[in-house]
Amino acid sequence: MIRPSVLGYARMGLAITLSLFVFSCTSISQTGNAPVTYDANTRVFRMDAAGVTYVLGVNEHEQVQTLYWGKRLSPGDAFPAARSPRGYSAFDLPITLTQHEFVGWGGGIVLEPDLKITFPDGNRDLALKYVSSSIKENKLNIVMKDISREVYVTLHYAMDAETGIVRRSAEIENRSDAAFTIEQAAAGTYNLPRGTDYHLHFLTGRWAAEWSVQDEAIRGGKIVLESRRGTTGSQNIPFFVIDRDISKDQEQGDAYFGALAWSGSWQISIEQDALQQVHITGGLNAFDFGYRLKKGERIETPEFLAGFSSQGIGGASRLMHRLEIDSIVPNAPNPRLRPVIYNSWEATTFHLDEAGQVALAEKAASIGVERFVMDDGWFGQRMNDRAGLGDWYVNKEKFPHGLKPLIDKVHSLGMEFGLWVEPEMVNADSDLYRNHPDWILNFPGRPHTEGRNQMVLNLARPDVRAYVMSFLNKLLAENEIDFLKWDYNRNWSEPGWSDVPLEDQKDVYYDFTKNFYSILEELRSKHPKLEIESCSGGGSRVDLGVMRYTDQDWPSDNTNPVDRLVIQNGFTYPYSPGLMVAWVTDSSNLPNRLALPLEFRFLSSMQGALGVGANLNKYTPEDFAVAKRLIAQYKTLRETIQRGLLYRLIPPEDGSERSATEYVSRDGKQVVVFAFLHSSIERYPYPTLKLRGLDEDAVYKLEAFEGKATNGVPATASGSYWMNRGLDVNMNGDFQAAGFTLTKVAALK
Ligand code: DGJ
Repeated sequence: MIRPSVLGYARMGLAITLSLFVFSCTSISQTGNAPVTYDANTRVFRMDAAGVTYVLGVNEHEQVQTLYWGKRLSPGDAFPAARSPRGYSAFDLPITLTQHEFVGWGGGIVLEPDLKITFPDGNRDLALKYVSSSIKENKLNIVMKDISREVYVTLHYAMDAETGIVRRSAEIENRSDAAFTIEQAAAGTYNLPRGTDYHLHFLTGRWAAEWSVQDEAIRGGKIVLESRRGTTGSQNIPFFVIDRDISKDQEQGDAYFGALAWSGSWQISIEQDALQQVHITGGLNAFDFGYRLKKGERIETPEFLAGFSSQGIGGASRLMHRLEIDSIVPNAPNPRLRPVIYNSWEATTFHLDEAGQVALAEKAASIGVERFVMDDGWFGQRMNDRAGLGDWYVNKEKFPHGLKPLIDKVHSLGMEFGLWVEPEMVNADSDLYRNHPDWILNFPGRPHTEGRNQMVLNLARPDVRAYVMSFLNKLLAENEIDFLKWDYNRNWSEPGWSDVPLEDQKDVYYDFTKNFYSILEELRSKHPKLEIESCSGGGSRVDLGVMRYTDQDWPSDNTNPVDRLVIQNGFTYPYSPGLMVAWVTDSSNLPNRLALPLEFRFLSSMQGALGVGANLNKYTPEDFAVAKRLIAQYKTLRETIQRGLLYRLIPPEDGSERSATEYVSRDGKQVVVFAFLHSSIERYPYPTLKLRGLDEDAVYKLEAFEGKATNGVPATASGSYWMNRGLDVNMNGDFQAAGFTLTKVAALK
């Protein structure tokens, strides 16, 4: 069979008539790029924006080389032409010590390459040289070509004008007469100024414990962050931040950071060479990878975005948050503020019916919830997690009249209606699998591994893509669904694709993810009001790639509010609190059984996009009153929390029993402070919170919406006072939480 590939239609028909076509990643929508300048005498390109300057040039060997990346320089500072370094020894040749922007594997390079190709004649040497460049709409394109083979690579660059974050990708094109196999492809390499005191901060995790902050010194050799799981995963997050060993203060020092916009297997390698230079290369994971690029075809790598902050790791996070909200998510730069949701999963699990959901919806509406979401269990023969996935018809026993009565009821209560789906999966006990056992990822004749009793559909197949698209489209066309929670509850295993020619089978790594994106994109264009949440058994598919098509993200199935302080802290390193869904659940929720005050639970969740996931049938009148009050309070604060500048005042790291966050609204008029103490030790007072990001010369009025400040704290004081003298919080005991607002009331006389 000739396989129609990406999007199910591109290769077959169009390839015959068009000499070239592009499988391009949808590029991130742009609010504005900084200008790119080019000096033809020195062949130096330069971009400046916000606090950042990025400079690159073409050296005497026609290689493209980084000249500077860091704090913004004076416009008058000129750079001489790039020169490749001398080799250090026969073991470290000049090509390996050059700070390449993009380098092929060949000619003696021993560090991580950006591109590795096997040609049909067995040649694996690739020597890319500069050919030409163009600057259009503030985007720089640099074309490189192999010294003899018709392989062209176009490097794309754009610097975001607001944040100075550089967006890069590479487009690889086969203009030769025969197909070749790409075995490794990165968007490009970022090179740090020489230094021996770099420190890498990154995120690791597993189910129910995602987003753990880790750090390690960068020394000689390579550190690889990656996912080989088929999707993003939580073992590593596709994000890095590197600072220098100057200070423990999150707000101090230089920090370089970056993230990949890709929801498939990925890798970021951080490598220090023989001259103690650090190279950071990011793109598709090379493990088991092999993309067959046929004559006339092009493929574009994921985008690898990177930035610089002179306000430490905290500043790096704020720049990332800004870019996500202003340039990446749907409807950027003005995405809707996240509504307060109710989700029925923890209350009812698979035991759903119309009356039960209506009862919860009525209670949810009474406390101010704005969107009611029915989770897993409404479809097929889904009585538990062993059956039903793949059969996307409404279960008649649970909903004899279909979904309409429930949806109408939810709408009549003034809420939006959301529904759970897990489109890429199938249970063996399903009609879909009985009819199409060949649709799963597998190697014929070999066992297939199940996870949560389910298997992964091969979304790279055009027929699977068409099935998923059509059932989702029908569901949305026939029901007034405002929101989908899109789940994905396992990793890949046995990633075979046997009905395409052998040499194309590994294309599955790329085509699966491209088809996932194309379905999201098509759904959104057919149903423009639809909103989508990315969920993957918790936070296993959160990245800048999926964020282009989804409005919010589920960080973890662990909804314990103390654990959540840690999980949410890690989430905010790369991603905005405005995208982070946080439910208030019951005290006895998994994975542990702490009975915590409802106020503590609410304040923990109010640090992101607030939701409720509790069994409201068990709420007492007092619980309803607390919930109603704090949801109403949250609505007055959410713009600041979701869009403002976040300062992690006390990160709950290294076993800290305390945690505090501060959010400053973009206009600087409102400040929100949360403080938590989960166990008081030896009656020490809570540390003074020295606030950040205020206007020194303005007066701010302090009000507590939960808990209280220590006696004697003034009701109003200057920004300078709150930042230097600070705020003393009256907190003793276990599981205490306090929340404050500071409102800018006047400028100092
Ligand atoms: C995993 C999700 O993370 C949960 O929130 C819930 O939707 C379950 N799946 C349902 O199966």
